[in-house]
Amino acid sequence: MEASSPSSLIDPAHLHSLLGEARGRFSVEAIAECESTNTLLFRRAEQGAVSGHLIVCDRQTAGRGSRGRRWAASPEASLTFSLLWRFECPLSQMSGLSLGVGLAVVRALADCGVHGVTLKWPNDILYRDAKLGGILVELSADADMESSHPRAVIGIGLNLRLPALSGHESELMMTPTALDAVVSTPPDRHRLLACLMVRLAEVFDDFARAGFLPLREAWMAHHAWQGRPVRVLREGRVEKEGVCRGADDDGALLIETAAGLERCLSGDVSLRVVS
Ligand code: BTN
Repeated sequence: MEASSPSSLIDPAHLHSLLGEARGRFSVEAIAECESTNTLLFRRAEQGAVSGHLIVCDRQTAGRGSRGRRWAASPEASLTFSLLWRFECPLSQMSGLSLGVGLAVVRALADCGVHGVTLKWPNDILYRDAKLGGILVELSADADMESSHPRAVIGIGLNLRLPALSGHESELMMTPTALDAVVSTPPDRHRLLACLMVRLAEVFDDFARAGFLPLREAWMAHHAWQGRPVRVLREGRVEKEGVCRGADDDGALLIETAAGLERCLSGDVSLRVVS
């Protein structure tokens, strides 16, 4: 059940005023509560919402993280939103999209004076190896996705203040951190969201032109675990072990193992720093 609220933390008119030339590319829906902004945005897409529709929500009651995990977020302490985007390119060009989204987040945070943010493949936003936020990219299952223009729902959750205990801490894979622990004056919520939207549109334009390739070098510059020893886990079991060599041209993770340079495709894999 979603609830519109005049007292929502985000004022769409104010947000629009901060978008500059990108203003015409977005429509904004600010709501007080929903289960999950990604789930709700998929429903909106079925109801006719067009590319650029953004849902920002103060509280999610069943926020979804990657690999079926929960995503806990609360008003004031989080910035939680999803963006619908239709790409004018074939589906095959979409691999690595969550890496491109991560790059947009790093750039937007830097625009707001937050530097030193890094990215862990494929969808974690880190500061000093602690988790500052997460990304959940979901493609819609059109009947003929290869020939149609793929539609993506891009969900982002950022910790503005250190998360309150949710009762699901055992599900947290990494130590959490928050913007108020990273900078003395955390960015204004509207400004931060506006910068994120502008940077996301920029990255999506690059993606529609040529996929992940033009973004790879920039992504690598912010890769948290470049050259570090890692394990790749699948369903709790170690699948690969080696040195992390970043991302391939299509966004696949590269691991240098005893057998040579191996690729991991996005999916149900997790990374762990070897202790
Ligand atoms: C992860 O790190 O596991 C990904 C977390 C993604 C959370 C965001 S919050 C907005 C959007 N709505 C959801 O239900 N999930 C994403």
